[in-house]
Amino acid sequence: MGKDPRTDASSAADGSGGELQVVVSSDPEALALAVASAVAVEAQRAVKRSGCFNLALSGGSTPALTYRLLAGSPFAEDIPWSATHLFWSDERCVDATDPYSNEGMARRALLDHVAVPRAQVHPMCCSRLVEDSGGDERLTALRAREAAEGYEKLLRTRGQAMDLVLLGLGEDGHTASLFPDSDALEDGGRWVLPVLHEPKGAHAVGREEPLWRVTLTASFINQAAAIFFIVSGRTKAGVVREVIRGAEGADQERALRLPAQSIRPRGGRLCWFLDAEAAAELDRGRPR
Ligand code: 6PG
Repeated sequence: MGKDPRTDASSAADGSGGELQVVVSSDPEALALAVASAVAVEAQRAVKRSGCFNLALSGGSTPALTYRLLAGSPFAEDIPWSATHLFWSDERCVDATDPYSNEGMARRALLDHVAVPRAQVHPMCCSRLVEDSGGDERLTALRAREAAEGYEKLLRTRGQAMDLVLLGLGEDGHTASLFPDSDALEDGGRWVLPVLHEPKGAHAVGREEPLWRVTLTASFINQAAAIFFIVSGRTKAGVVREVIRGAEGADQERALRLPAQSIRPRGGRLCWFLDAEAAAELDRGRPR
């Protein structure tokens, strides 16, 4: 894939002495192409390194464009799907056919179109919590904990960190299902945790009741060889600036409370893929 003139990459130091890369594309379509191209590079790199590609898919709506690109030419041919193991960064505990399901979105946009062996697709399997518990809140909470423990056992049994984790960013600075002031932010070394979350903003459309989720924790995500944030739209520009600038010292106090600030790879690479609108406030007040 040749260099796309609609995309520009730059590097910046983050607050922990590491380096983060910021890739800005002119629009959501160019952003999706930039991410898909970078995923293909990571896949080839991982398979060369270890013979397989462990990829954790982001939830939310932004990645759908990227997933649809990955399902088509040239990525469907370029990526070694037969050597790929697919995981999720987080899941909303609804049926996979529910439009709100991260698994459902990824299956419709990507998995139904590429040849990843069924045994290599690892959904978080938390879609029947409420049904299986007969609506008993205590039992539902137990089922959510069991789903998280089951996923953590899978990850620990495989004993491999992710080669690549894809993440989105909420306007409140959440990523995966790591929300502000959530207990899951103090993960105590756990890799997967259940989260009870009251949907807000766009996520609350058609949903009032608190919803159980299962999420990878920062402790696990930060072990990845590469972590890509994929962020689009002007509504995210402020929080993008806070999270990235926070990594560079400005607004440190408030920014450190933003969950996305806890994503700091231990030795891996962190790259922010933004469209121009999401990057609109990055250079505000910066010396040229
Ligand atoms: C989730 C996601 C979440 C998402 C952000 C951005 O399951 O809710 O994992 O972290 O990535 O909320 O969502 P959009 O891409 O829809 O803006």
